Amino acid sequence: MLNDVETLGSAASETEEVPLLSLHVQLPGGDVHKIEAAAGFNAMELMRAAGIPIKAECGGAGVCATCHVRVPDHWSDRLDTPDDDEHGKLDEIPSANDNSRLCCQIRMTDALDGLHLELQADSLSHHHLDAAE
Ligand code: FES
Repeated sequence: MLNDVETLGSAASETEEVPLLSLHVQLPGGDVHKIEAAAGFNAMELMRAAGIPIKAECGGAGVCATCHVRVPDHWSDRLDTPDDDEHGKLDEIPSANDNSRLCCQIRMTDALDGLHLELQADSLSHHHLDAAE
């Protein structure tokens, strides 16, 4: 199983002034993992660093749409609105709804401390999940 909390390792230690924030990631099965986050990183990078099994096939370029998350209403108000490119990619995801975002396009800020994201089944890497067990 995944650990509850993972650190960002070298990325965080290189910049000592970066305050640690938290990010809550709910997997499709319902398990919620609290991971450490640092301002300036995007949510997809943070999930990967913590071992969350997210596909994210394009590595954050915003073109693969395999980093699909849903953001609860009380958090979505605090995020920047998706740009036209992100909207276009979200339109290609059959299961997307008004709460859907590409998490590689969500950059952590102090105001997003505690952000809750629901990783969608279409963006879950079963290969990585098997490896983590
Ligand atoms: Fe490919 Fe986000 S990682 S669109």
